[in-house]
Amino acid sequence: MAKHKIAWLPGDGIGIEVMDAARLVLDAVGFDAEYVHGDIGWEFWKSEGEPLPQRTLDVLRSTDAALFGAITSLPKEEAENELDASLRGKGLVYRSPIVRLRQEFHLHTNRRPCFAFPGNPLNLKEGIDLVVFRENTEGMYAGVEYHPLPDEVRTVLKAHNPAMGKFDKVAAGDIAITCRIITRQGAENIVRRAFEHAKKYGYPTVTIVEKPNVLRETSGLMVRVAREVAKDFDGIDLWETNIDAMVMWLIKNPQDYGVIVCSNLFGDVISDLCAQIVGGLGFAASGNIGDRYAVFEPTHGSAPKYFGQNKVNPMAMILSAQMMLDWLGEADMASRVKNAVGAVIAEGTLRTYDMGGSNTTTEVAQAVADKAGAGAPA
Ligand code: NAI
Ligand code: MG
Repeated sequence: MAKHKIAWLPGDGIGIEVMDAARLVLDAVGFDAEYVHGDIGWEFWKSEGEPLPQRTLDVLRSTDAALFGAITSLPKEEAENELDASLRGKGLVYRSPIVRLRQEFHLHTNRRPCFAFPGNPLNLKEGIDLVVFRENTEGMYAGVEYHPLPDEVRTVLKAHNPAMGKFDKVAAGDIAITCRIITRQGAENIVRRAFEHAKKYGYPTVTIVEKPNVLRETSGLMVRVAREVAKDFDGIDLWETNIDAMVMWLIKNPQDYGVIVCSNLFGDVISDLCAQIVGGLGFAASGNIGDRYAVFEPTHGSAPKYFGQNKVNPMAMILSAQMMLDWLGEADMASRVKNAVGAVIAEGTLRTYDMGGSNTTTEVAQAVADKAGAGAPA
């Protein structure tokens, strides 16, 4: 029996191509796994009205972790129009599979490493080595929203906070509210994971990015909890920075930061910024991590205009697989993959179009596989 059981979710478009590319690397390092294919994506929305069928959830429940490529998703009306004729008019609504996976499997932590591989022409600067920890299930994306605003909600809000009074004259249909929900448990969990990561990998600082001078309650709670958690980690400094200043500092002095921790919306914004300063979508790997299960995926989508051309950069997918190896405890394989990616970039002879080259997805992945595999156990 294989040592690990992995849900294999290629999805749509270039998701399929980059997953094939990552497989070359996983096989080369001798990763001992049984891969179980899972149906996910647009094809299943069109034919079944469900982009994440129940049978796929069952596959995930029977595996140790999942590797996911990318999916296509379209706005509500276009989604309805592409449904098989037999399914139209039944009130089926497209729901994002990845958001559903985060909820179904309590994948509370979104981790995005942003490492400037030396010699990558797309680096904003050399020497950047950041890891963003984004809370993945609450905050501004908790899904508690009101529009039109029910009278009861308005009355209760005003009874508990006079600031609501300034909207008295706005009609229910002309006001919308999204609740930013931070729990002590959610805050403590994400901050603790950020510190544990800093400790394990030797980062000297954890920066909490909030706005407590304005968002007194929610940001205030995040920062208070961060100060408490920091006491458990001698030798790692807690830096506190406001979100607006942070986007400036990340362009000016990105090499000064190590681990960064944020609530959901701020983390969403910061992690895209951090991805861009180390090469953009072709390099942006991520992990959606829970207590017992994790789904690893590149940040990019299905890039339909490049599908079938064997042209896109496989590094984001390969680095997502690398994170999976590390999470599964295969530290040696993980470091061999990271070093191989670094070596291929530093040599600079094989590059996909986004790096100014003309090599194929497969050529670049094979080069990484060859280097990562050298010295692999047979
Ligand atoms: P996208 O990420 O698919 O592509 C945008 C552009 O980024 C591409 O046209 C290409 O120029 C570049 N790019 C993306 N991946 C690259 C790679 N590996 N190497 C080199 N260049 C790369 O975003 P887009 O075009 O907005 O969305 C396409 C579809 O993907 C949509 O249906 C969207 O809903 C979906 N999507 C899915 C995501 C997911 O599965 N997690 C995330 C983002 C978008
Ligand atoms: Mg995003």
